[in-house]
Amino acid sequence: MSKSAEAGLGQLFAAAKAAQANAYAPYSRFKVGAALRAPDGAIYSGCNVENAAYPQGACAEAGAIAAMALAGKRRIAEILVVGDGEALCTPCGGCRQRIREFAAPDTPIHIAGPEGIRKSFTLDELLPSFGPDNLTDR
Ligand code: THU
Repeated sequence: MSKSAEAGLGQLFAAAKAAQANAYAPYSRFKVGAALRAPDGAIYSGCNVENAAYPQGACAEAGAIAAMALAGKRRIAEILVVGDGEALCTPCGGCRQRIREFAAPDTPIHIAGPEGIRKSFTLDELLPSFGPDNLTDR
């Protein structure tokens, strides 16, 4: 990996860790942070926000995507998710589809633990799927 790509990933990891620290997860006690980079280099982050009415809780990825959309951006160049524990904190099914809306099949999804990135996937590896392009060219 190039030095600048490595530095970019470091920034993404730092942003996700900072977001994770602010997660509101009193029910699961599982704090998650997510950070995504737009094609122009800007970084948007989010944390999970749970609710006493459990299904109303929101994932970290949803928060990061909302922040990106609020800034007027519409593309995810890469995204990183950080969670604690031994198991890989891969995005849930719903969040894979949320990412799909703004990403390409080869968009990297990096999964991190507290120590750093553990594994990277492409979106297509996690979710070969239906997306906006299915609804164009008709
Ligand atoms: N969670 C996320 O925010 N992102 C993921 O990728 C996996 C799970 C949250 C949802 C819930 O608040 C907690 O982690 C436990 O499932």
